[in-house]
Amino acid sequence: MNILLTGGAGYIGSHASVVLTEAGHNVTIFDNFCNSHHSVIDALNKITDKELTLVEGDIRDTDLLDRALSDNKIEAVMHLAGLKSVAESVEKPALYFDNNVGGTLSLIKAMQKNNIKMLVFSSSATVYGEPQYLPIDEKHPLKAINPYGQSKIDVEKILSDLFESDKNWRIIALRYFNPIGEHSSKLIPENPKGTPNNLMPIIVKVAQDKLSHVNIYGDDYDTLDGTGVRDYIHVMDLVTGHLAGLSYIKNHAGFLVLNLGTGKGFSVKEMICEFEKKINKKIPIKIIARRYGDIAVCYASTDLAKATLGWEAKLRLEDFF
Ligand code: NAD
Ligand code: WQD
Repeated sequence: MNILLTGGAGYIGSHASVVLTEAGHNVTIFDNFCNSHHSVIDALNKITDKELTLVEGDIRDTDLLDRALSDNKIEAVMHLAGLKSVAESVEKPALYFDNNVGGTLSLIKAMQKNNIKMLVFSSSATVYGEPQYLPIDEKHPLKAINPYGQSKIDVEKILSDLFESDKNWRIIALRYFNPIGEHSSKLIPENPKGTPNNLMPIIVKVAQDKLSHVNIYGDDYDTLDGTGVRDYIHVMDLVTGHLAGLSYIKNHAGFLVLNLGTGKGFSVKEMICEFEKKINKKIPIKIIARRYGDIAVCYASTDLAKATLGWEAKLRLEDFF
């Protein structure tokens, strides 16, 4: 199929581009590089030995999207473009709603104009807020604790309403838990612009001596070692889940929401310890106060993804680094 991949130069998008191309799809990346680097495109061409089509632009530019869809005879869209920093979303909520919600509305308009009704959307486990039970299944109530999370809830609602208004839409919203890891070529690592906020890129920077230590946000949670527990899913598993999602919506109209996680949680200290084993080097840590808005434990119920897509994460903690 001819696929438009918004945010395709980013961390998850670049990995998605590899598996889509290797599965025989023609990928057009649409990205404004606000959080990614042009060098990613060369790396992708090298990995897949194919020349990708790139449209550089902002998803809020509906006319440019419209042209990208028609020029490349697009049949389905994977919509990964979005801003994702929780802290920045608290500082600049309007920017987050404009980019993530406004950007999606612009994409929908361009898709409608071109009569394209197949869409895979990047949602997030952040839509669940503070877990009321574990593992978190897709029926868990939604409650945003920051503007970023609210932007994902808003987009899901818009997509659900869209399907209610026109039953020809085939939409799947994938709620990612904590993606980590990279392609085996090591050519497309997670490389956000500015200072990273997420645990793994910080651990990697400390290992490379670019940061002195990892600040652990609290060791007084009600967990095995007191540090926060998350469901870390390898990015290659995550993007394979996208491929399975795309195959599913090819044959099923509807609006479907699925968790993409492993179903297993690991603590911050466990992650650091495993990484130390792999690189055979000590990672200095400092225990500091809890980070505002953090939850103690979060991991996915993976049953629905398994039952619907026949997909499950294969890689385990020891394969992550
Ligand atoms: P990323 O920042 O590496 O990639 C996002 C890409 O989108 C970047 O290349 C950026 O330049 C592009 N982009 C952003 N706004 C744009 C716009 N207006 N027009 C065109 N391009 C734009 O982030 P990622 O980790 O690859 O995340 C991809 C998607 O997955 C995002 O929607 C994010 O919210 C979602 N998500 C990420 C995580 C995670 O932990 N990485 C977890 C859950 C959900
Ligand atoms: C993981 C664990 C921290 C950094 C965020 C978003 C979520 C999703 C994924 C997009 C927690 C601890 C972290 C550090 C630490 N993104 N930590 N020191 O908070 O689970 O989720 O990214 O949708 O929406 O909220 O991920 O990687 O920031 O944190 O101790 O320097 O590592 O407290 O327990 P989080 P994270």
